Amino acid sequence: MKINRFIWLLAGALCLFPAASSRAQEQNAGPTPPMGWNSWNHFAERVDDRGVRAAADALVASGMKDAGYVYINIDDTWEAGRDAQGFIQPNQKFPDMKALADYVHSKGLKIGIYSSPAAKTCAGYEGSLGHEEQDAQSYAKWGIDYLKYDWCQSSGTREEMIAAYTKMHDALKKTGRPMVLSLCEYGWNKVWEWGPSVGGNLWRTTGDISDQYRVMADIGFSQNGLEKFARPGHWNDPDMLEVGNGGMNEDEYRTHMSLWAILAAPLIAGNDLTRMTPFTVELLTNREVIAVDQDPLGKQGYRIAQEGPFEIWMKPLADGSKAVGLFNRQRSTEQMTVKLSQLGIEGEASVRDLWLRKDLETASGAFSAYVPSHGVVMVRIKAR
Ligand code: GLA
Repeated sequence: MKINRFIWLLAGALCLFPAASSRAQEQNAGPTPPMGWNSWNHFAERVDDRGVRAAADALVASGMKDAGYVYINIDDTWEAGRDAQGFIQPNQKFPDMKALADYVHSKGLKIGIYSSPAAKTCAGYEGSLGHEEQDAQSYAKWGIDYLKYDWCQSSGTREEMIAAYTKMHDALKKTGRPMVLSLCEYGWNKVWEWGPSVGGNLWRTTGDISDQYRVMADIGFSQNGLEKFARPGHWNDPDMLEVGNGGMNEDEYRTHMSLWAILAAPLIAGNDLTRMTPFTVELLTNREVIAVDQDPLGKQGYRIAQEGPFEIWMKPLADGSKAVGLFNRQRSTEQMTVKLSQLGIEGEASVRDLWLRKDLETASGAFSAYVPSHGVVMVRIKAR
């Protein structure tokens, strides 16, 4: 009884103070970068109900859920057309979206979907243009928790983008169902400057990733400078992970995961979760690396030194320690050194290797390590 009254009072307060409710909406994503899985990178048009259920099962069975992955996101190609009233209909690959969402929720997970503020999505399916409120209502009715909203037009001014994203954000808000809003417009018009103002919890900063070292590295290492735009609830998104898709070697995938964690990037796996090697599982679930990504201070890391293909990146962490990545982008192993003074540390420091999960010798003045080609040594360094 008391609890009921409290809920009514709370609901009343949210109606009286819409600013509070809008704040609640914007905090949907939680304070740390979203973690989950998305169908696109591996399955593209082959995504279907069965595959999404299998991904949810595998997220749990592999230990990824326990490591913090929550969202199961359906990307493009689920859309059929509209009914006579204009409501979006899933195609034959998704016979019952509500039942699918219920299934994902029954696993303790959340479910995401995809659309575009255009007549057509990127893959040429039905977009949301002119039907934003109806689509938001459908998502809410099905139990959707996350929307990736993909621009998919060849051009657009900042004002047009702001208007389109605001329209969908307002429509989502109107449903009363909290949904994470993921902006996907490839970093055009400096989205990081206005993403939060249109309700974006994350915003893509670049074009599409692919499963190649060169593409992943070009994207990841180009994020320097964007750190000032990331903060709890609002993140730069250098695109989804390719870990486990087979196009990179172990050192390259370790670089991918380390760099994304240092960037406080959303960790959205993009591989087939039902067929993972032990290495892929280990890479995706390393608690100490994930803790860097999810650190409560919510700072995005940045580059502190570069000499040609050798880059040192640092992310300040809540306990005063620094996550440091020594990245070697050339074709042979190289010894790399970071001076503790570059990290703002005087004297000695303790060093823990996050991939080896091992404490190393105390560093005095500097820390050096051999870094394999296209690889990384990722450590957590703390003043003693
Ligand atoms: C764009 C996006 C991708 C994916 C596809 C789907 O290319 O950037 O992440 O969503 O569209 O068509």
